[in-house]
Amino acid sequence: MKPRVAVFCSGRGSNMEALIRASQSADYPAEIVLVVSNKADVPALELARKLGVKALAVPAKPFGKDREAHERAIDAVLVAEKIEIVCLAGYMRLLTPYLVRRWTGRMLNIHPSLLPKYPGLDTHARALAAGERKHGCTVHLVTEIMDDGPILAQAEVPILPGDTEETLAARVLEQEHRIYPEALAALSARISLPEGGAKP
Ligand code: GAR
Repeated sequence: MKPRVAVFCSGRGSNMEALIRASQSADYPAEIVLVVSNKADVPALELARKLGVKALAVPAKPFGKDREAHERAIDAVLVAEKIEIVCLAGYMRLLTPYLVRRWTGRMLNIHPSLLPKYPGLDTHARALAAGERKHGCTVHLVTEIMDDGPILAQAEVPILPGDTEETLAARVLEQEHRIYPEALAALSARISLPEGGAKP
């Protein structure tokens, strides 16, 4: 049985699209069955539905400052859908230890830098400002420290004379779309999944 995977997004969803398209080929070792967003009305949700994947929003607003309560609501959806692996793909919300611990070893993130360099936001601008000659992206397992955790895959790109944040972001994004499906496939093939999905 292929592991059932949920993708979390907050916006555009191009990495989500790359994961879904990869998983739609018969020999891919995981199945993307759910897309979750913390915001309604984001392009990613519409795009997922067009690609034939169930997509829903679990907005944070009704939970106010109680971030864990929001995550408990998301986790209930994941359990109901028998999800076994979660891929964060442009999910722009910090997770609490509650959800991270629930999914330890089964939650991946993609980050647009060569971690451990440039965790956080504005990675392309920061790499340019620092005069770096190379930049890239990283897929890693999620731990309680933001943009940290064991690295599963990395891709480097050169920083070229005249690069802007936009040109550099586009070069990195192309690599994101390549390494994220590869890293998910490798993890899916490697982990053995207990009956019923997520660890308690
Ligand atoms: C991607 O570049 C992803 O690496 C980044 O947001 C973008 C989402 O684009 N994620 C982070 O910065 C998380 N720290 P997408 O919605 O088109 O995949």
